Amino acid sequence: MGIVAMNRETSGKIANLSLLPADPIYGMQLLFKSDVRPNKCNLSIGVCQDTQGKTLRFHAVDMAEKNLHNNPYSKDYLPLTGLASFCTSVQELVCGKNDSVTTVQTVGGTGALYVASKLLCHAGISQIFVPDPTWVNHTPLFTSAGLTVSSFPYYDRANACIDFDALCDALNNMDPHSAVVLQASCHNPTGADLTKEQFKILSQIFRKRNLFPLFDLAYQGLGSGIEEDTLGIRIFLEDEHEMLVATTFAKSFGIYNERMGALHIAAPKKAHDSIVSHVRAIVRSCYSSPPAHGAHIINTILSSPELYSLWENELAETRNRLAEQRNLLYSAFQSVKPGFSYAHLMQTKGLFCLFDITLEQVIFLRNEKALYIANDGRICISAINSQNASIIAESMQSL
Ligand code: LMR
Repeated sequence: MGIVAMNRETSGKIANLSLLPADPIYGMQLLFKSDVRPNKCNLSIGVCQDTQGKTLRFHAVDMAEKNLHNNPYSKDYLPLTGLASFCTSVQELVCGKNDSVTTVQTVGGTGALYVASKLLCHAGISQIFVPDPTWVNHTPLFTSAGLTVSSFPYYDRANACIDFDALCDALNNMDPHSAVVLQASCHNPTGADLTKEQFKILSQIFRKRNLFPLFDLAYQGLGSGIEEDTLGIRIFLEDEHEMLVATTFAKSFGIYNERMGALHIAAPKKAHDSIVSHVRAIVRSCYSSPPAHGAHIINTILSSPELYSLWENELAETRNRLAEQRNLLYSAFQSVKPGFSYAHLMQTKGLFCLFDITLEQVIFLRNEKALYIANDGRICISAINSQNASIIAESMQSL
């Protein structure tokens, strides 16, 4: 019997793949775009907006790009570990001056988390714990990198606060050498952050239980301040943990599509070369080398005192505006009849706040009120303005 030649109709390999559900965040953007209702309002994706509802542009970024236009950089490949000067400047921004840290540039924060996961696999760590709730992409990302993912209690939805006792209990019962994800600030999706004292307690538990910290820092400067938002990271670094810190600069510089991220690795200096050799192998087999443009933008800003101070001021304005936007929605809730729980709006920070509502209620808000919020009940504070605050409050209060 000869081999029967297959064509596109009969081969049935990739053509037989089943249809997967849309991504909970990106899929929602497509739904929103195709919605023709004039009163539609998008509170789903975590992007900082300006007062016109457009994705916020930092003047510091525009000025850095002008500089780059006048002083063009090479279009050659970057090394596997990225632009060295970018790595040095973002390392100091995130970790302070610390000899035990080595940094590699990655393709966004997602790339940093992916490289981190693969590095954990190389080091023989197979189990990772994520907070419940957490960023919707954590579990799929870690799973696809080959880790077994479980969660630990973080947030008490009904009482809208961190359940610190339950969190500590869970850590105390984890198998040694498990990796544990901690969000450094502006927790996604709740906006509820650990305090300095709580980070100190956790650091001791991590040490006692021999757990491996993986920090995720996505909103540096949007919670309490550039350095303040790294408090937990600095505490763990001071306590000399071997640890990883995945960062994205998408939100803090408003350069989402430049895919700027970094992975900071804290380990004894003598181990850096070997660790980075593993990172190189991971990066090479995945995307070869990271993009250059955003790295040059950030590097230009961080190395110029004028641009740094402009960026710092713009970030502070954005942070203050987020606090005002929370206030706006809080006041709007106060003016509609009571019954809906919103007090935690004023106790949380950053881009997000989580409401204790069901998926059915999320769908109701989308279908009946043209109000798009994430499936887990998360809203993006940055999309709130004086025109939509009372509509949002009334719609949510009608649940
Ligand atoms: C979000 O959480 O909305 C953002 O971080 C965008 C994303 O990639 O999910």
